[in-house]
Formats: sequence, structure tokens, C-alpha cells
Amino acid sequence: MQTISDTHRLHQQLKQWRSQGQTIAFVPTMGNLHSGHLLLVKEAKQRADRVVVSIFVNPMQFGAGEDLDAYPRTLEQDQASLVELGADLLFTPTPDLLYPKGLENQTFVEVPGISMLYCGESRPGHFRGVATVVCKLFNLVQPDLALFGMKDYQQLAVIRTMVRDLNMPIEILGIETVRNSDGLALSSRNGYLSANERQLAPELKRTLDWMAEKLREDNDLRALEQQAADRLNSAGFSTDYIHICHAHSLEKAGSDDKELVILAAAQLGRARLIDNLRVDLAD
Ligand code: PAF
Repeated sequence: MQTISDTHRLHQQLKQWRSQGQTIAFVPTMGNLHSGHLLLVKEAKQRADRVVVSIFVNPMQFGAGEDLDAYPRTLEQDQASLVELGADLLFTPTPDLLYPKGLENQTFVEVPGISMLYCGESRPGHFRGVATVVCKLFNLVQPDLALFGMKDYQQLAVIRTMVRDLNMPIEILGIETVRNSDGLALSSRNGYLSANERQLAPELKRTLDWMAEKLREDNDLRALEQQAADRLNSAGFSTDYIHICHAHSLEKAGSDDKELVILAAAQLGRARLIDNLRVDLAD
């Protein structure tokens, strides 16, 4: 596997593969790779001739006072995992390469509507940062397909909307969330949890499962959301939001909606945990 940090060498390699008619799958990440990321790479290998992974801790998607500096950076370990899986190219741009004029003077991509809900409301500018960097990475790599984890359900919806609205000829695949045996979704931010918080953390997924059960008997969705938030807060979380939403539009669901997703974010100690659960009431 080659690790490349400059656009000239990146373009040369991609041009060679394309001239040989090879297809390219792309897995954008912020590094500190765990089994969830590695599943994306494995799936990518099944679907294309070449797999390109990027590692870039994107300053544009972190707000003031968030964990940009603390975000774990484990390049050597990540490279070893990618070599083992047979990724072909690791792209590691620097902030200067992607934002040469600084963040203030950077042209940006903003996906209206969906970017302003939930995580977008709590983290203003976050999805603008995500959409902008993913758009730039797509332009640099020009992949045939790109893979993202479904743990970041809203992020995936923002990216799908951007690709559709801007006619980007890229197939977007969402891949199932990988969980620990106790249900906690894998995330680089789980490393911020103390031993005691780590014991409590699976309560987030248990609460989603409990809501999914309740949804089959009870259609007062807003009351159920409130009970779930109370349950998390009593367990020691500080709930940011927990909403029962339409699975595609992400608007808050009504009692007639059948294809649902429960979206949740809650702070536990230093870690902001997010998770979601798809629920199909037509089943
Ligand atoms: O999900 C992530 O790791 C990041 O938000 C992404 C998509 C790589 C953009 O920086």
C-alpha cells in the first residue's frame, strides 16, 4: 500500500488505474481505525478493483471548544491495519493542502434542511464542514463508489443529498454499524470514556432497543422520546436529543409513519456518543 500526501502523486496513480479500466472505491475517514472502519474497507474490496482510504482529521467539522486537538491520531497503527486488509492507497492530506487559504476563506458546501437538524443544531457548522471536505475528497479521488458507516446516520443522509443535488457520479453505500458485544457502537470517541462510563455506555443502545419495542404498542412518539431521555439522564448521560424520525427525510415521524429511525446523541463524561436504530413498523 502506498501512502500519499500530495495531489500530484495521487492523480498520477489514479490516472494509471483508470487507464487500465480499473474501478475505484473510496473510504474517507479521520483515522484511529476500528473494526467499523475496517468493515468499510473489506466491503470496498469486494466492490471495486482498487481501494483508496483517506485519513484527515478535518478541522472544518469541529466547532470551537470541541475535541479537534484531542482527537486520536494513530497513523502507524492505521497503516498496519490497512496493509493487512489489502487497501491499495492511503491518502493523508494536511490541513494546508486542503485549506490553503484557511477555513475562513474556504468555499463551502452546505446541504440545506437536513444539515440543520439534530447534530446540526447542536454542532452549528458541523455538516458544512463534513459536506465540504467530502466534496473536496470526492473531487480529488473521483471514485466510482464511496462507503460510509451507518452509525453516522445523519451524516450519511447529508452526503447522499449532496451527491444527488450536485449530480456527483458516485454511488454511496451505507454499511452496518459494528458494535461491541454489549451493544456499544464502535467509535473513536469511546476512548474518552472512563472505566465506569464505559460500563454505563451500552445503556444508549439498550434505550434504543427499548423504544423500538414500545413503538409497536404505543404511538405517542413525543412522550416516548421524553421517557427515553429521562431514562438516559437517570443513568448518568446528559441527553442532547433522542428523536423518532422518518427513516429517509429524517423529519420527526408522525404516528402513521412506518419506516422509522431513532436518532440519539448523549454526552457521557468527555464523550459525545451518537447512535441510531432503524425500525420498520410494517414488518
Ligand atoms: O465520518 C467521518 O469520519 C468524517 O466525518 C468524514 C466522513 C471522514 C469526513 O471528515
